[in-house]
Amino acid sequence: MKKTLAWVATAVFMGTILMWSPKAQCALEAGRSLYIDKCALCHGAGGDGKGPAGDALSPKPTDFTSSQYWQTPNNQRITAATLNGVGAMPAFDLDAQEMKGLIDYMRTFKK
Ligand code: HEC
Repeated sequence: MKKTLAWVATAVFMGTILMWSPKAQCALEAGRSLYIDKCALCHGAGGDGKGPAGDALSPKPTDFTSSQYWQTPNNQRITAATLNGVGAMPAFDLDAQEMKGLIDYMRTFKK
């Protein structure tokens, strides 16, 4: 009996945890680590295009904090640029889910 109760308590506990961490939050977190890992070097940890390796490039890496930038691009354009590369930027091999989290995270840079 005690054991059953413990199991039920554990199940309820786990369920609550799962409900508290909605999928969107996970995708954003995954996007953040992808960005830091693969993009921050050029685009900057804060998305301002001033990453340590960005300075030497011409044209400079895109500034994702600019609200002007976000007027034009849609997810398709960002995805195409990331998967194919553009200018001095190499292509990245990411799947659709990774791309979505990444874009969601990049949108948080917008001022
Ligand atoms: C080696 C440096 C470098 C890295 C790493 C890099 N970028 Fe870039 N990125 C650039 C440069 C330079 C440009 C501007 C290219 C141009 O305008 O010719 C750019 C432009 C872009 C653009 C704008 C394209 C457009 O036309 O709207 C997007 C979106 C972008 N990068 C996304 C990413 C993402 C996402 C990552 C990480 C997965 C990443 N970049 C990693 C250098 C880099």
